[in-house]
Amino acid sequence: MSADTHTPSGHRRDKVVLVTGAGGEMGHGLIDALSRDGRQIVAIDVRELDAGVRSHCRDAFVGDICDAGLLERINAQFEIGEIFHLAALLSTRGEFAPETAHHVNVGGTLNLLKLAAEQARSHGQSVKFMFPSSIAAYGMPTLADKRAHPVVNEDQFTHAHTMYGVNKLAGEELGRYYQSHYRKLAKDRHPSPIDFRSIRFPGIISSDTVPSGGTSDYGPEMIHVVAQGKAYDCFVRPDTRIPFMTMPEAIDALLRLAAAPKEQLTRTVYNVSAFSPTAADFERLVKQAFPGAQVSFQPDLGRQAIVDSWPEECNDSAARSDWGWKPTYTFESAFEKYLMPKIRARYVHG
Ligand code: SER
Repeated sequence: MSADTHTPSGHRRDKVVLVTGAGGEMGHGLIDALSRDGRQIVAIDVRELDAGVRSHCRDAFVGDICDAGLLERINAQFEIGEIFHLAALLSTRGEFAPETAHHVNVGGTLNLLKLAAEQARSHGQSVKFMFPSSIAAYGMPTLADKRAHPVVNEDQFTHAHTMYGVNKLAGEELGRYYQSHYRKLAKDRHPSPIDFRSIRFPGIISSDTVPSGGTSDYGPEMIHVVAQGKAYDCFVRPDTRIPFMTMPEAIDALLRLAAAPKEQLTRTVYNVSAFSPTAADFERLVKQAFPGAQVSFQPDLGRQAIVDSWPEECNDSAARSDWGWKPTYTFESAFEKYLMPKIRARYVHG
């Protein structure tokens, strides 16, 4: 790979932000926010981007993060200052194809970390590496344990039950290794090629997109399905409780952590929390917003067990004190001020 800040044809490479999984739910919100900030974005996704997202990107590559050749080309063409590595196979999909999930989630992350390290070597500065991790990194041994420990810290119960969760933990550890120990014995090693920062996100609810392949999907699915006037069969019990936040809060968290001065960070991985409704709370607010809505509960035992292994709440005091995290909404105000206005406009009046 090219070891300077020029392309093979001698032109200086432009400094860009690389976003993987750009066409996913989080990619939509993030690319919008980054482009409003005037950032030059290079996107990767396995599918062609929507025209709206594409229009905010300077370049977009359709391809796989496991394709080393694609990453070589990107490495040669651009000077990358920051990477938002969003691409992943989520928790439900991962349980149908665990080895594929590992290949994409860990192998892909390793490829991106290597790309970041090569970039740091060529332009001499650490590459900021933003990695969304997940509450799936936690594994409460039993439902009784979950109830007995309603709030967990980052270092508790990190024995994930899903391949996705195991992969996220691996990504967190690889990031820490690349940041502090990469090529420990090499004489020419860069002391800190990566500036690695990760957030364990709760379930995320967007007014614009519907998730797929995750296990927290019942929350956002219920809202979007009911808003379209259809009945919803919820795949978890009404008393199921895990943390959620809105997509704008998740994007805000990522950007705030990315902007924080490094010396203020005491960890590489942070919890962030907003609200922790039960599935019955979703039903209650959905029925308030759409009287006559039909919601039934038909737990899928496998998916239920996954959600039961995730904590009810995460202690986010480190994020609050290190980089000023605070949520925007309560569950009620998220419905009233963010979700309902946009969702009504989309399905009911649209
Ligand atoms: N929301 C994701 C999932 O359900 C967890 O990060 O897989």
